[in-house]
This record gives sequence, C-alpha cells and structure tokens, in this order.
Amino acid sequence: MAFEVAKVRSCYPALADGYAYLDGAAGTQVPPSVIDAISGAYEAGIGNSAGAFPASERSDAMTAACRAAVADLVGGEPDGVVLGPNMTTLTYRIAGALADTWREGDEVIVSRLDHDANVRPWVQAASRAGAVVRWAEPDPVTGELPAEQYSDLLSDRTRLAAVTAASNIIGTRPDVPAITALARAAGALSYIDGVHATPHGPVDIAALGADFYATSAYKWSGPHVGAVIAAPALLETLRPDKLVPSPDDVPERFEFGTPPFADQAGVAAAVDHLAGLDPAATGPRRQRVLASMAAAHEHEQQLFGVLLGGLEEIRHVTTYGKAANRTATAYFTVAGMAPPQVAAHLASRKINVWSGHNYAWELTGVLGIRDSGSAVRAGLVHYNDRSEVDRLLEAVAELG
Ligand SMILES: Cc1ncc(COP(=O)(O)O)c(C=O)c1O
Repeated sequence: MAFEVAKVRSCYPALADGYAYLDGAAGTQVPPSVIDAISGAYEAGIGNSAGAFPASERSDAMTAACRAAVADLVGGEPDGVVLGPNMTTLTYRIAGALADTWREGDEVIVSRLDHDANVRPWVQAASRAGAVVRWAEPDPVTGELPAEQYSDLLSDRTRLAAVTAASNIIGTRPDVPAITALARAAGALSYIDGVHATPHGPVDIAALGADFYATSAYKWSGPHVGAVIAAPALLETLRPDKLVPSPDDVPERFEFGTPPFADQAGVAAAVDHLAGLDPAATGPRRQRVLASMAAAHEHEQQLFGVLLGGLEEIRHVTTYGKAANRTATAYFTVAGMAPPQVAAHLASRKINVWSGHNYAWELTGVLGIRDSGSAVRAGLVHYNDRSEVDRLLEAVAELG
C-alpha cells in the first residue's frame, strides 16, 4: 500500500511549526508516544536499578524493554545491546576494550567515507597500541567505496575493519556484506557505523555480517541514546575498564554509571512507532519494523529522485556523490555562495538544512571542499513530503 505521509506527519507535533525539517540526518523529531513514554516514566515514579521496590523494578523494565526494542530494530539479541549516551562515546569505549587485545604491528582499517566518530577512536586506539592504520578510499567522483580494495588492505595482522553502512553527507551505502565477508575470512572483526543508515531502511546485522553495529536513537524518532549491538559471546571476550562493584555481566559490563531510564523508555516507544509506519504490517514487532522501514525507504527514495533531479537541473548548483545505492541525503554547493550563507537563506525561507563538513572530516577532504566550507546537506526521512522538497528547490533556484 502507498506510504501515507500525511498521516505519518500528523504524528510529529514539531512539524506543525511551518519549517521544512530537512535536517533529519542531524537528528529527527519525535512523536507524542515517545514524549509520553518519557514523561510517563517520571510521572509513575522512577528508581535506581536493582532495588526491591516497584519504582526500581519499573526502571529495570525500561532498560530491558529498550534492549529488546533495539534488538528488534536491527535484528540482534537483547543481551547483545550495549546502551550509552551516543555512538561516539560507545565507539571510544569499544575501541578501548578492543585495543587492549591489539599488539604492536597489528593493523586496523578505517575508511575516508566515514563520519569521524568511526575513524578517530580507532586511529587513536591504534596509535596507543602500536597498531598500523590502513585507509579505505572512496572514489572522489562517484562517492562509492569499492569493496574490492579490502582484499589488498586486509592481512593476517588485521584485527578490525571499521566502516559505515551509509555516509552521513553523500548517502553512499557501501557493500558492507562484501567488506565484512573479506574481513572475517582474514580473521578480522568488523565495526559498522549504522547511525546514518538505520533510519533509512530495514537493517539486519546478520545479513550485513557486522560483528559490531552502532546506532543512535535520536536519528530515528527517539531520544538521545546510543547503542552498539554485538553477539553476547563476542562481548564476553572483552574486558573494558569498569568500576569494581558495577555489574560484570554482558552487556552491562560496557555501560557506565546510572543510565537515563526514562529516555530508554522513549527508545522502546520510538521502535514501536517505527513498527507502525506501515499500518498494514502485521506479526511480531521485528516483522512490522522490517515492513515499515521498507515502506519508509521506498517513500524516501521516490522523494529523493525529485530532490536530486531538481537540484541537478539548477545551473548554479553542484551536487556531490552519485553512488548507485545511497540514502536520501543530498549534498550540494551554490556557485558564488558560501554554504553557511545558503543555509541562512534557506532558514529565512523556513527550511532547515545543515552546512559544513558535518564531521565527515576525511570525506570532505577527499572531495576537496573541506577548506571552502564544504557544502549544504538536505536530508530526507520518512516524515518529509513533496511540498518540502518543492520549497527547497524553489528557494535554491532563487539564488541564481
Ligand atoms: C554516520 C554517523 N556516525 C556517527 C555519528 C555520531 O553519532 P552520535 O551523535 O550518536 O555520537 C553521526 C552523527 O551525526 C553520524 O551521522
């Protein structure tokens, strides 16, 4: 059935303020069910973990429900869901734990397609361990990240390949299953940054072949909570720094201090919300998530065709990236205008976009635009509609 975008939009009160929210790649709006789950958690009475009284039991139930929901979203096991404040913090944490197992001369592979949060934690951990960093290179013209290069980058010393499931500026979706298969054959682990990819379609970490998969709920209609998903047996092999009295079980071993229980309740509500994006979807939540995210993907891609086609027709616009498989994320410059000026003009037309490198530090370097302010990013998510795309195209066309 057709994706009912008007109905979906009505679930997001923030969208009623007259602005076109084309800034979803930096963070999404939330539906009332998420807001209610968070405020309801506080209203009901909240306690710290592992107490003998109901408020504490409710908090522990929120954590358990959050793990189960994230597992349903990406196809993992609840006991393999490590929760934390955001992807960057969690990646530093996992990098520290993994690097403790690295020896001088070991190798790690990072990519210049990635957000810096899936680059620098590995580069810095490698430096401390005396490990060598090898770089996978995107094609500056197409924005593709050819998977074949990993055959040359991998060796019997490679311990980890870190790569994104989608670029947060040009949307490229590399062939992650091919990369992880090569890594596994060489005896290396894979760490997949799913922060940008997760909101744009169905995710199955087994099909991706990901040993670790990172995501952030604020990119998919949830609150500011991050998660790294891995097989519990793999997490058991790692010994991160931790307090002596804190739980040594998996996944708690990787989690620091008292978590935001109410926000965790919001994460579970966000996954329930996503599972309902396709009202015709039936069955267990995992099945409904897959169907709904497939419907959302189709809607976004159809709209992206209009956005990209429209931008490419405007003579004073240059677009970046043309990967065959990409998220609905456009990255462009306007001749004679600095990206922040373009963003300010669009804001004056009530259109929210981002400008700059957006932490895709290496990639904006590869594209040769980092020193000139990079470009403007207009990203679509499931709640964007045709009128917003048309408004953006009109406002950009005015700049000629
Ligand atoms: C692809 C990608 N990776 C990582 C991050 C960092 O995520 P977090 O803000 O959860 O640390 C972002 C944030 O924009 C991102 O887009």
